[in-house]
Amino acid sequence: MVKRVDLQSDLFYKKAKEEGYRSRSAFKLRQIVDKFGVINEGDVVVDLGAAPGGWSQVADALVGERGMVISVDIELIERINNVVVLRTDITNEEEAIRAIRDALLSNDRNAVDVVISDASPQLSGNKDIDQFRSFELSTAALTIASALLTNPNRSNFVAKIFQGSYYNQFYTSVKAKFRYTRAYSPAASRKRSAEVYVIGKGHISTTQLSVELSVSTVF
Ligand SMILES: C[S@@+](CC[C@H](N)C(=O)[O-])C[C@H]1O[C@@H](n2cnc3c(N)ncnc32)[C@H](O)[C@@H]1O
Repeated sequence: MVKRVDLQSDLFYKKAKEEGYRSRSAFKLRQIVDKFGVINEGDVVVDLGAAPGGWSQVADALVGERGMVISVDIELIERINNVVVLRTDITNEEEAIRAIRDALLSNDRNAVDVVISDASPQLSGNKDIDQFRSFELSTAALTIASALLTNPNRSNFVAKIFQGSYYNQFYTSVKAKFRYTRAYSPAASRKRSAEVYVIGKGHISTTQLSVELSVSTVF
């Protein structure tokens, strides 16, 4: 007998094929955007762990011609419309930040509005190891986002993490850096999946944070 959960996954897989998306994950980002409005027309979006490119297709359609999408993966990503594709390991954060900044400059852009990450480790089958690797990837995404998001009024973040031992630590790190933080499991995620998405809106830069801290010390 085919289980209900498998039917639902199958439905999103079929829908992705019909709508020309490279992955069923595309629907997870669509559901996140519908609920939290994290990507808007004209935004510059950096998509980390982007292959094969479903999220980048969704982001590319949302930002339109005035916006831009930079997609980063350790694997090759086949060309998508106007998306700039970079092949880089995001856990080498400095190199990834440098490559993304170079891509911005060569496209006459100087700011990033949104950083999204659906990066996942290759599953080892050992839950503890997989949770730790997922934590490493989401932490790398947060480091990269913190370096690139400079406009507090246009600075959103979405990152996947596997639930488990490191989840609270990651959620707390996002909460410390954004004015608004939520965790969300889109309906398009498999029912038995351990993944959850942490959303941050309104990045607090280090300079802002020190000004706010000194003001709260004075009063
Ligand atoms: C679930 S897939 C992303 C699916 C994508 N959001 C989509 O809609 O097509 C996870 C991706 O994370 C990438 N990844 C894993 N480790 C990485 C790393 N260290 N640096 C960059 N990408 C990485 C994998 O290569 C894989 O393509």
